[in-house]
Amino acid sequence: MFTWRSLQRFVFVVVLLVLSLVLLWPNTHSQATRSSTAMMTPEERGLHNLTHNPYGMMLLTDKLLERLPMVWEEEWKSKINLDDPATIRQVAFERYGFTEATWDNRGGPMQMVVSEKGNWVQNCMLCHGGRVPATGQSMIGMPNTELDMQTLYDDLTKLTRYKPPFQLTFGVSRGRTNAFVFSVELLRRRNEDLSSRQEPLPMGDYKDSDLDAIPWWHLKKKTAMYVDAGTTGDFARPIMQFTMGEPNGEKIRSWENDFKDVLAYLKTIQPPKYPFAIDASLAAQGQQVFAKTCASCHGTYGADGKYPNRVIPIEIIGTDEVRLKGLTKEFRAYFNKTWFAQNNSHAEEAPKGYVAPPLDGVWATAPYFHNGSVPTIYGVLTQAARPKYFRRSGGAKEFDQKNVGLKYETLNSPAAPTLAPEARRRIVDTTLQGLGNQGHPFGFKLNEKEKWQVIEYLKTL
Ligand code: HEC
Ligand code: HEC
Repeated sequence: MFTWRSLQRFVFVVVLLVLSLVLLWPNTHSQATRSSTAMMTPEERGLHNLTHNPYGMMLLTDKLLERLPMVWEEEWKSKINLDDPATIRQVAFERYGFTEATWDNRGGPMQMVVSEKGNWVQNCMLCHGGRVPATGQSMIGMPNTELDMQTLYDDLTKLTRYKPPFQLTFGVSRGRTNAFVFSVELLRRRNEDLSSRQEPLPMGDYKDSDLDAIPWWHLKKKTAMYVDAGTTGDFARPIMQFTMGEPNGEKIRSWENDFKDVLAYLKTIQPPKYPFAIDASLAAQGQQVFAKTCASCHGTYGADGKYPNRVIPIEIIGTDEVRLKGLTKEFRAYFNKTWFAQNNSHAEEAPKGYVAPPLDGVWATAPYFHNGSVPTIYGVLTQAARPKYFRRSGGAKEFDQKNVGLKYETLNSPAAPTLAPEARRRIVDTTLQGLGNQGHPFGFKLNEKEKWQVIEYLKTL
């Protein structure tokens, strides 16, 4: 029988239960993570955050991954055995451009954080984790030159009939992404405090362009971030742009301290060493050539090396201009009003060109230029050695020791429209918007002997 007293007791018990859930559960949970990371240095915590914390939405699950082959082309289906999840995983890694994790990630790749329940959340290493050429070792901070994000999202859309809230091109060539347009599309759907807004803000006439991620070991030398040196100040908030997959703005803001640690970690990353023999006397001659022809922009190396952080106007550098001009004034101005810039960071509203990057570990970061349009260093120095259409041959372990860079085949024509989209994106077509391979004429005037000397020297950096 209902009595006032029993109702009181009932309400009391419910309140107690809810309170203990709200207060105790998250508390013990965060205390557990806090105590396990409390003993770490900021740099160690940064690495832990990148590899263990889900900053964004779930993309895949163990189960979903096993069903993905249902939407693959016959050629890909023939590589797997549907009863063997291990081969499915291996072939899926190959198809999407995933590499083995360097930590215990429950069988997931370096590009995802996998939770205890088998949920996969994409992380920064989707684009910033890849293989060291020649050795094939997975490395955090190495640009992922294998990634095909478009195929991954297309396959997921086909399998789950999921419709994205807005149209977005993830990339037209393998190993590159339309990364800055993701930022534009996500930020225009947010208010200045990063809370969601219904009507997207106008951002001017911005343009899609495929970009090659920047190696993370450059960051410690830089006073301004991104290929146009467009962001200055404190980088901790700006590097959080790629967490905007998370819809809740307040949650994103709460991750700021995590990303201060991530930034500290990024600054500790060292480039990989050239794994083969180097001709020391040839390299010493190359150093002389480099000092005369290249160092004014790219700096000097070694113990007393100096990096000048120079931005070269587009009229002088002459490389593809879509990234520079296609990222609009409107976006840059709005960025400056949002939480990302409301500390001590600032986006240039009219950058003039591209930064001459540090060349540490440059042997390992083919393809070259901000759009990855030139497959070898010899090609950087020689216009005639820049293929108009090319396809990488072999996997990420393949390495051209002579010309230093990717092994590739030159094609006479763009990808045939009859090819499957996945195969089409393996062909880099430098006539497409944003993928132009022109410019940077500074090596053209060197003779062949000097070019090989400089290339030998670059292997030592
Ligand atoms: C979808 C691919 C992608 C993802 C995911 C991504 N990045 Fe990037 N990142 C890029 C590209 C491309 C650039 C170069 C953009 C440019 O300058 O035009 C870049 C540039 C950077 C730079 C500038 C480096 C320099 O030397 O100027 C930093 C730092 C960075 N990213 C950190 C992060 C962090 C931290 C995350 C995760 C929160 C992340 N990125 C996620 C693609 C990505
Ligand atoms: C006037 C300044 C300037 C000079 C001189 C110069 N460079 Fe560059 N270099 C740049 C800029 C700017 C870029 C970036 C262009 C882009 O990504 O669009 C670049 C890019 C490169 C890259 C590609 C780096 C990467 O990670 O993609 C290499 C390699 C390179 N330069 C080598 C050289 C060598 C070798 C010399 C001397 C023969 C030289 N550069 C002279 C400004 C210069």
